[in-house]
Amino acid sequence: MRTKEVRIFVYEFDAVSELPEEDRELLNAAREAAKSAYAPYSGFFVGAALKLENGEILKGNNQENAAFPTGLCAERVALFYANATYPDVSVKTIAVTAANHEGIVNGPVRPCGSCRQALSEAEVRFRQPIKVILDGKEKIQVFDGVDSLLPFAFKPESLD
Ligand code: THU
Repeated sequence: MRTKEVRIFVYEFDAVSELPEEDRELLNAAREAAKSAYAPYSGFFVGAALKLENGEILKGNNQENAAFPTGLCAERVALFYANATYPDVSVKTIAVTAANHEGIVNGPVRPCGSCRQALSEAEVRFRQPIKVILDGKEKIQVFDGVDSLLPFAFKPESLD
């Protein structure tokens, strides 16, 4: 038997004002996107913003449906929009926020497993880690890549 340790680095910030300018701009774009979320069933308004290699910022938010599984999370709305619009441009960073009727959640917000998997595929596709910024009222967490959020992910080589 062998025991291995998996190390995950988490960078924490007390407020959006503490982030470097580029990340601050992206998180503010995510907060803006959350305001247009369609979340009448959960009352949980999620916003995501992506920074692409070409400098573009693209936004998405959760889109719910009375037939629950038909809806989609903010992260995948933003990611698929980006990939559909710029299929050859890599994703550098994603910022995610969530608010309820009282404002930004305590957080840090946690992307669901399916969104982590979709982001992992984008890392494979563009051969580049995606920095992840997760918003919260009490603290903001930043991760170097999706492997930090989804260790031992299902990847193309898992098909071999
Ligand atoms: N949601 C997201 O948009 N992103 C996540 O990663 C987790 C959950 C949405 C889905 C649903 O509209 C609402 O939040 C409550 O689950």
